Amino acid sequence: MQFFVDTADTNDIRELESMGILDGVTTNPSLIMKSGRDFKEVIKEICGITKGPVSAEVTAIEADAMIAEGKNLATLAENVVVKLPLTWDGLRACRALTDAGIRTNVTLCFSATQALLAAKAGATYVSPFVGRLDDIGQDGMQLIADIITIYENYPSLTTQVLVASIRNPVHVLDAARMGADVATVPPSILKQLVKHPLTDKGLAAFLDDWKKTGQKIL
Ligand code: G3P
Repeated sequence: MQFFVDTADTNDIRELESMGILDGVTTNPSLIMKSGRDFKEVIKEICGITKGPVSAEVTAIEADAMIAEGKNLATLAENVVVKLPLTWDGLRACRALTDAGIRTNVTLCFSATQALLAAKAGATYVSPFVGRLDDIGQDGMQLIADIITIYENYPSLTTQVLVASIRNPVHVLDAARMGADVATVPPSILKQLVKHPLTDKGLAAFLDDWKKTGQKIL
């Protein structure tokens, strides 16, 4: 499973990239707002940090305007992936941009039939939002399982399943168990994945015993 980071914070992206655990980046208008930075400037900077796909979202709601925005965003760097909302116009824009050779990420997906349409429209990625479904009492990870089954039923559908709106390490674990192509994870959740109380306890005991030996490595 590929790890994308869901942020526009370039310090976090730089650190993860330097550790070699980053496969790509996703952003959305809310994350751009949180960064307090100019949209195009921050996307260009992110694309300079990582060679992986970087999702940049259109803000138009009508297909022709989305296509124009998408084409413009795609000129920022060759690893830009144009993010489009899962609306009728978004699907029309997806087909046009895909046919123009531009990679797309169809976002705000909340049903398997929406994901089927995104694949038919040629999306490179579809982003089902698991956390937001859990928030309203639905099973976000069941949606991922359904989409994976449907895509596997029809091998001509090549859209990758990008699990989004991840809120906890269990979402990441379940996504990997199900064989999702990508999980886009906020930096705070990525850092939680390393945590285990037995690791901390074991390390403390090792360091304690090492101290008793009176030795030094350097
Ligand atoms: O980038 C889209 C998605 O990951 C949003 O997550 O936590 O705002 O539902 P969240």
